[in-house]
Amino acid sequence: MLQTVSLSKRVAQLKPSPTMAIDAKAKALIAQGRDVVNFGAGEPDFDTPENIRDAGIKAINRGHTRYTAVGGIEALKSSIVERIFEDTGVRYTNDEILVSVGAKQSLYNATMALINPGDGVLLPVPYWVTYPEQITLAEGEPEYVPIAPAHEGELHADDLAAAATQKSRGLILNSPSNPSGAVIRPTVLHDIARLALDRDLWVISDEIYNRLIYDDAVHASIAQFEGMRDRTILINGVSKSYAMTGWRIGYAAGPKHIIKAMASLQSQSTSNPSTISQYAALEALSGPQEAVTTMQREFDRRRRYVVGRINAMPKLSAATPQGAFYVWVDMSRWVGARIQGRTIAGADDLALAWLELADVAVVPGSGFGMPNYFRMSYATSMERIETGLDRMARLLEEAE
Ligand SMILES: Cc1ncc(COP(=O)(O)O)c(C=O)c1O
Repeated sequence: MLQTVSLSKRVAQLKPSPTMAIDAKAKALIAQGRDVVNFGAGEPDFDTPENIRDAGIKAINRGHTRYTAVGGIEALKSSIVERIFEDTGVRYTNDEILVSVGAKQSLYNATMALINPGDGVLLPVPYWVTYPEQITLAEGEPEYVPIAPAHEGELHADDLAAAATQKSRGLILNSPSNPSGAVIRPTVLHDIARLALDRDLWVISDEIYNRLIYDDAVHASIAQFEGMRDRTILINGVSKSYAMTGWRIGYAAGPKHIIKAMASLQSQSTSNPSTISQYAALEALSGPQEAVTTMQREFDRRRRYVVGRINAMPKLSAATPQGAFYVWVDMSRWVGARIQGRTIAGADDLALAWLELADVAVVPGSGFGMPNYFRMSYATSMERIETGLDRMARLLEEAE
């Protein structure tokens, strides 16, 4: 007789991604014919630029359809080396680079290669939903780092110092941040680097939004600071900057022995990322870069509009994000309010009310560690943004 097969403890404790959960619910409503404005998306709404698409097609026609080296083709690694040098001034060699199935796999490889059971890993709040799950999968312990209100969303070294324990072994940084869009200034990053050195911490630095920054924000990598190159795994990829989320190419740069260990892990799990996508990514990184600027400008325009509208709504407030394509909204003044007979206990309830009563999807902050905030992605057309914000405002007017 068939018994129910029990799952490993490892997967039983995994939480499904809440960002994907709201996205799935919104898509289900759309499939039923509802006209939902989706502010949940974590990907650009633009098509992959034509030169990059063509490079993928050419790769197929030229027969680049077989396995490559596990960690990626040398030409792509060389273009990654050049791009990182241009963006950060840090020079890596090809054997310090690993190409993976998206930045997500690079992050997974890095956490698996660095974390031992019981290791504390400092994680600033709000965090991208995947980090605590990956730390836990590696049997580490997330050490959540609240950012002092006076720092206005920008992580400072003293926030980390206050949260660090005897167990702390590493730190995960994400600047520009998903979900808050906050960018850590170079001077502040310098102090964080000092703290990492003093406390002998490794750093995973997820810089996937580094090309999407606005106003006078400057992106710096913690790997730039003295002593940090040897203890940093820099993570980036082509998904966000080049509108290539479906191609699944990300990468890691770091000390050779760590990259080698990450490649071994990858060799026993997935082998090389798609050969065709690697050739497309090569074109993205080494070809014309105008498309990045065009997308960045359009995101900037939408960002200003969304922030302005949100701050004009009753009891909502949002800082102007300096990077990525999200606005992080404080809804705490709505806690305890009633809308169409529903009590709003936090952003989960508000998001559900907007989805079910106004056909608008936003992502509640509970999955990012701040349940009285929600994230709005402006990776959707200006017209849809206007419609969605109008609907949100209208429902709030019905509050009792
Ligand atoms: C902060 C952050 N890091 C990494 C990723 C993963 O990117 P990729 O599509 O390259 O796996 C995302 C995607 O949402 C992200 O927001």
